[in-house]
Amino acid sequence: MEKLIKAAREARKFARARYSNFQVGAALLTRDGQIITGSNVESSSYGLTICAERVALTKALSEGIDQFEAIAIVAKDGSFTPPCGACRQLLYDYAPDIEIILSNGKETQKYKLKELLPHAFDESNLGEK
Ligand code: THU
Repeated sequence: MEKLIKAAREARKFARARYSNFQVGAALLTRDGQIITGSNVESSSYGLTICAERVALTKALSEGIDQFEAIAIVAKDGSFTPPCGACRQLLYDYAPDIEIILSNGKETQKYKLKELLPHAFDESNLGEK
């Protein structure tokens, strides 16, 4: 877990957060032990900004990696940064059982995604399953 948090902290260094100045790093752990990282990437058209978690997830998925155990999220020292609603939904679509690990630089908090997004909307609601 320390290794995953460290990877998220390293990824945070690549945050492109010139509008909010709020840098975020995320690191996804795959079932076979790989780590895929992401940082937030902001746009001058603010709504196009992509969170660190979604960058990590889409990086992984676009490389054919889709079995995930956990994701660590790191932002400012001293505060925990939980994933936003959009990230919870996208994570749920691809990894409903994933564990969310938050670090404030000193302590960690762990949640199951299902705790953070109860009664989620998913493909079953589309009538496909
Ligand atoms: N952000 C993330 O990257 N992840 C989160 O979980 C929360 C928010 C980013 C989006 C934006 O670039 C900045 O933090 C401020 O909202």
